[in-house]
Amino acid sequence: MVMARRSDLLVCTTLECETKEEMVASMEKAKEEGADLVELHLDSMSFSHISEVEQLLSQRTLPAIVSFRLNSSRKLSGGGECRRSRCLQVLRLAVQLDVEFVEIDLEVALDVGITDFLNERSNSKIIVSSYLNGGRPSKEKLGNLIACQQSTGADVIKLVVDVVYITDVAPLFHMLAHCQVPLIVRAVGDRGLISQLLGPKFGAFLVCGSLGGTSTPGLPPIVSIKQVYKLEHINANTKVFGLISNPVGHSKGPLLHNPAFRHTGYNGIYVPMLVDDIKEFFRVYSGTDFAGFSVGIPHKEAAVECCDEVDPLAKSIGAVNTIIRRPTDGKLVGFNTDCEASITAIEDALIENCLKIQACNLIMKELIASELILSKLEETKERQVANGEASHSSPIAGKVFVLVGAGGAGRALAFGAKNRGARVVIFNRNFERAMALAQAVSGEALPYECLDTFRAENGMILANASAVGMQPNCDQSPVSKVLSLSLSRTHTRNMEALGSYQLVFDAVYTPRNTRLLREAAEVGAVVVSGVEMFVRQALGQFKLFTDGLAPEDFMRHTVLQQF
Ligand SMILES: NC(=O)c1ccc[n+]([C@@H]2O[C@H](COP(=O)([O-])OP(=O)(O)OC[C@H]3O[C@@H](n4cnc5c(N)ncnc54)[C@H](OP(=O)(O)O)[C@@H]3O)[C@@H](O)[C@H]2O)c1
Repeated sequence: MVMARRSDLLVCTTLECETKEEMVASMEKAKEEGADLVELHLDSMSFSHISEVEQLLSQRTLPAIVSFRLNSSRKLSGGGECRRSRCLQVLRLAVQLDVEFVEIDLEVALDVGITDFLNERSNSKIIVSSYLNGGRPSKEKLGNLIACQQSTGADVIKLVVDVVYITDVAPLFHMLAHCQVPLIVRAVGDRGLISQLLGPKFGAFLVCGSLGGTSTPGLPPIVSIKQVYKLEHINANTKVFGLISNPVGHSKGPLLHNPAFRHTGYNGIYVPMLVDDIKEFFRVYSGTDFAGFSVGIPHKEAAVECCDEVDPLAKSIGAVNTIIRRPTDGKLVGFNTDCEASITAIEDALIENCLKIQACNLIMKELIASELILSKLEETKERQVANGEASHSSPIAGKVFVLVGAGGAGRALAFGAKNRGARVVIFNRNFERAMALAQAVSGEALPYECLDTFRAENGMILANASAVGMQPNCDQSPVSKVLSLSLSRTHTRNMEALGSYQLVFDAVYTPRNTRLLREAAEVGAVVVSGVEMFVRQALGQFKLFTDGLAPEDFMRHTVLQQF
């Protein structure tokens, strides 16, 4: 698949400022951030004389759309008639000054006609716009509206639509793909974000973004459009991938998958998808171009039911975090990449630690050069994996695996540990949930309060899959570092509660170095960060999305830059 760059996509931002000076300053900012075009909402600007507008338009440093909304919240003395005549005055001036685009409300266009504008203009393109709020936009409703807008003789048509669900954006994509005149669409609100990010796939020549790196509902920041999504590479053949979640704004997925697509030359885009009803989502976005999905909170369990087929491991876990639409028959197939990601991260850290210890011992005995031994041990490890022996010889086999948390991540870890032959002991705030999971993996559930004092043996594995310690509660840890035991009324003994763990893993990855990991390292445990799990599960997803591409070093490097 080809990722040709198109040079005709315009990235626009809307400027609503009270003064001419602010408009000019914002225009400069827009230019710095990479906007190709600014939409000047001149109804937001206070001016006592039209000459101020003339100065602004003459001084513009970027191509512009000039608009003047009649229903703007800004009050003008003189009421509706005054607003209307000022609107026409501003728009006529914009045409005389040869501003690139002049936008007229459909209401005004139908009332006064746009023939004068069309006759007077030299290069300006006339946009006729409509704003729809309330009611779900059907294809028929939008089709009729566009026909009405087209009948005015407009060069460009613009539709701004309030959407309630992400599925409401689908009719807008249909319009983009089939409209006979250039069309600008914008779905307003958080659930409308994909209208901009996927617009170019359906033929949009213009997308809107927000200034200053912050996303306003429904608008991606311009810097993300330019640096993360690089929408100029998106075309009709681009495969769509995304994170189905609610909330979805925190996701680092786009920062990872989009650069990885470009790095491998795969024509794909990965976008956040704020989904309320996952079944309805798959009913509406059923085309083969919607090719793969990450699934996040709270849809991982419901996703199992949406798939036509589910990988046996994901089925036993009862949670799907990756769905691909199989290209051969369009069926949805579900997987769970969290399980292998977390368990292999733990196994590899144990093996590496064991190799280091063995190498140190060998060096001390001065038997042989450590590098040679290390490479021999690596060879042995690779041979074991290639022969499928890994699961039998997992370094966690037979160990006590203490798991904190029984949610989605907890379930993945519990099944993974059980499959590797560990003895799983589960602590969860909600004890019933812990018991249900323990039963499913033939493990044991113990009350959450006993976690600090639990010490079945030395050299246990501790895995935190609860949200404890996650931003913003970075000062929390599920297990205390030091435990004060009262031996008598006057005597207490301090014990290192973390001291009985050989390895401590934390699924939490924001922050990267949690309090649990810091304290575990202080008592000498091997520590594994949730970032490692994040890289591995994302890599697993990327392989499934692209049928095998695995730019591991690139993705690892990209993740480490972001966290
Ligand atoms: N590194 C990665 O790639 C990766 C992947 C997935 C998840 N994670 C992380 O893993 C953690 C859990 O995610 P999840 O998907 O499993 O979420 P989830 O399904 O919502 O489960 C949340 C778990 O955290 C427990 N919990 C929440 N607040 C708690 C508190 N104040 N005290 C004690 N326990 C608390 C819950 O216990 P109750 O059952 O009692 O509510 C439950 O066990 C999150 O921090 C998430 O970011 C990381």
